[in-house]
Amino acid sequence: MADPATLTTPGRRTGGFGTIGVVGAGTMGAGIAQLALEHGHDVVLFDVEGAAVERARRRIADGLARRVARGGLRDEAAAEATGQAMARLREVAAVEEVAGSVDLVVEAAVERLDLKRAVFATLDAAAAPGTLLASNTSALSIDAIAAATTRPERVLGLHFFNPAPVMPLVEVVAGAATTPGAATAAAGLVAGWGKRPVAVRDVPGFIVNRVNRPFTLEPLRLLESGAAGVTRIDRAVEAAGFPMGPFALMDFVGIDVNLAVAVTLFEGFHGAPRFRPSPIQRRLVDAGRLGRKSGRGFHVYGPDGAPLGPAPEFAAGPDAGLPEAAIVERIVLAIVNEAFHALGQGVATRDDIDLALELGARHPRGPFAWADLLGLRHATALLEALAAAEGERFRPAPALLEAAGG
Ligand SMILES: NC(=O)c1ccc[n+]([C@@H]2O[C@H](COP(=O)([O-])OP(=O)(O)OC[C@H]3O[C@@H](n4cnc5c(N)ncnc54)[C@H](O)[C@@H]3O)[C@@H](O)[C@H]2O)c1
Repeated sequence: MADPATLTTPGRRTGGFGTIGVVGAGTMGAGIAQLALEHGHDVVLFDVEGAAVERARRRIADGLARRVARGGLRDEAAAEATGQAMARLREVAAVEEVAGSVDLVVEAAVERLDLKRAVFATLDAAAAPGTLLASNTSALSIDAIAAATTRPERVLGLHFFNPAPVMPLVEVVAGAATTPGAATAAAGLVAGWGKRPVAVRDVPGFIVNRVNRPFTLEPLRLLESGAAGVTRIDRAVEAAGFPMGPFALMDFVGIDVNLAVAVTLFEGFHGAPRFRPSPIQRRLVDAGRLGRKSGRGFHVYGPDGAPLGPAPEFAAGPDAGLPEAAIVERIVLAIVNEAFHALGQGVATRDDIDLALELGARHPRGPFAWADLLGLRHATALLEALAAAEGERFRPAPALLEAAGG
């Protein structure tokens, strides 16, 4: 939570960074701009759509007002504090104008590599040599984005989670050329904003979007095979302490968004079977059933967004009755195994992977804590049995086999 005094003190800044540029004023760009304003920075904001900037302005003002009110300032004092923070927000009409006088640009435009590369090339040409250029990409390669610039050593990923003002985790992604100094400075900045940075190598999906992929893919496979249905899977997972069942989560995030990340990972891991996207997702997206935002996905939603129950074809089954404990065990084992794959590839430390899943995906415990609870030998044996019955995707990761003692 921002100190309300910060909002009333123009020019108080964090971590040696002054003005922050934000490119893209959608869900994430608006949230990141709000955070920077809360912590005393001047912010320069650009979006290709004027209407997006207008919407962002309203959302940022509302968000700041809520934060200030929660910090104890009310009514006129809150309005004044919010007004002063909003006065530090400046919109510009061209992306090159963002880069002029800023220490850091965070790009949060749409998730398309060609578009991000074009934005970074323009920013690079306009920015001072010392300016850091960061992307909020969910799963695209930082190296591929950095290659569009002449300063790959000052390009990195700053992966905030939605909603950015609230979610505590930020993945700080170092590309092959990113200097340790650039990553450390950016991590220090977001730590000053009250976030918990975790250091990640530039691999598809970083930590959370990769290690948590089985949370939605395994339930989709159970649904594909008819082993269990939407309602029972969601209920079993919620009963195990996860904040939301996987189908409710896909509806909430957007089935199209979830599918896009799944496709990026499948391609990024060269078609590895464990990352194969589900035809059920594709069918729903092709039919315009994107989840809560379109009123229908795995569940049906009322005009106010309240869930009205499962969509008819998912309400009836098929459901062969796989026990709820086995449903959860399968999902958790797949996540544990993916965490060991990531660890073996040096993606991040064990502690940071656990923390990332707890803070970024709100799991009741991190995958390594889960593995310890199950016992490494037991987890390995369960995965081997699943691999024999269900296929290669459950084959224990080399780092798990090693940790379990061969
Ligand atoms: N929504 C999430 O949960 C989430 C979480 C973490 C990361 N991300 C990532 O953050 C980025 C933004 O996602 P979002 O959910 O805010 O999307 P969004 O669709 O809400 O906003 C994207 C904005 O970018 C603008 N835009 C498009 N092309 C642009 C350009 N060339 N220059 C400037 N602006 C441009 C669009 O007009 C739109 O306003 C994506 O890379 C996404 O993968 C999203």
